[in-house]
Amino acid sequence: MTDKAEPIRSVTGMNDVFPDAGRGWKLLEEKSRQVFGSFGFQEIRTNILEPTRLFSRGVGAATDIVEKEMYSFRDKSDEDLTMRPEGTAGVVRAFIEHKLHANDRRWKLWYYGPMYRYERPQKGRYRQFYQVGAEILGGSEPSIDVTMITLVDSLLGELGIRGKVTLELSTLGDTESRLAFRKSIQDHFRPKISGFCADCQRRIETNPLRILDCKVDAEKTKDAPDGLDSLNEVSRIHFEAVKAGLKAAGVNFTVNPRIVRGLDYYCHTVFEFVTTHLGSQGTVAAGGRYDGLVEELGGPPTPGVGFAAGAERLISLIMAGEAEQQILPLPPDLFLVAIGDRAKADVAKRMLDLCRGGIRAEIDYEAKSIKSQMRYADKLKAKYVVVIGDSELDSGRAKLKTMSDGTEREIELSRLAEALFA
Ligand code: HAM
Repeated sequence: MTDKAEPIRSVTGMNDVFPDAGRGWKLLEEKSRQVFGSFGFQEIRTNILEPTRLFSRGVGAATDIVEKEMYSFRDKSDEDLTMRPEGTAGVVRAFIEHKLHANDRRWKLWYYGPMYRYERPQKGRYRQFYQVGAEILGGSEPSIDVTMITLVDSLLGELGIRGKVTLELSTLGDTESRLAFRKSIQDHFRPKISGFCADCQRRIETNPLRILDCKVDAEKTKDAPDGLDSLNEVSRIHFEAVKAGLKAAGVNFTVNPRIVRGLDYYCHTVFEFVTTHLGSQGTVAAGGRYDGLVEELGGPPTPGVGFAAGAERLISLIMAGEAEQQILPLPPDLFLVAIGDRAKADVAKRMLDLCRGGIRAEIDYEAKSIKSQMRYADKLKAKYVVVIGDSELDSGRAKLKTMSDGTEREIELSRLAEALFA
């Protein structure tokens, strides 16, 4: 005798989304579509699997994402593949591959889909999570950064969570400013780096800015140099223009020079929308400018700016305080009960006609006793029930029952659909 099969469980840190898991997912999809549409963005769906080198080159070989968190494997033709940890690199890959740059227009693209990072799971941090994000490819004016940030602010407003989130803004400046900042961080930490964690000791050479984001050594990094002091004139002017544009647009923000970001492609503007309502995973949306990424990935010089928001985090904020709903099948508008074989065939066909006509009709496919069919209609919370037997088929008339109050009225079977709205 074989053992009873063990149920197979989902992969750690990956969550199923159920049909009735709450109005949050639906609201997020609807509002994203609406807000992106009104800002002139078009949807793009890029692949979940990408060549691994897209991320080592795009996101940066010395980032936590690439060093520790990617789901990478070799396929049967020995290709190194990775399940995308973020959306920007794939959008840029598609932009270059399909020569979207050739028509000399600015592209505004948005996306929504699952991302994969092998992180330590906790509330708000998962190994499979959904991002909604957008990219503007082409154009380096500060007003484009302002448009992108205002778009995120509008989305949060439409989702009804603007009051729970604040915007933090900073700049990394251009390449010259970033190198100057990098050097000032190295000069500051090098004499004392032996007292820091192993990651920081490595990062001082590979990715010194990430030291500022270290949770282990947070206390020791408090007096670190300020990136804003390393800005050259061009970078300072860009940042001032972004701040002025946001003020003019009525988008509130605070400047936080400690924003580091976990991806290497950023320059100039970086931003994070943060909340105190979600515990330690408080960044709900984040992004910035990436003027060198398209070139880095083999395309023509094309500045870019974008953002991505974690869907689960947004939804937690949307649903905060609302009771969790039970997972149930969708209630039918009309449940058809059959008495006898002739009626059984009739309701099966009638149900399909009604569904094709836009009415959510349902039957009990097994069509056992009337009692059990009625019980099932009740369980599904059908709005109306009609019972059809030989006499109803002969007369062409039947009783339509309104389940909420138990009332019945006689209707013509040929006008069943209309009767529901009478
Ligand atoms: P990111 O900061 O790595 O940026 O991720 C953006 C957002 O995705 C985070 O603020 C967070 O809400 C959500 N998120 C990230 N990791 C997880 C996780 N493990 N579990 C749940 N939610 C998570 C990017 O991905 C950039 N591609 C954003 C961007 C677009 N920059 C320019 N364009």
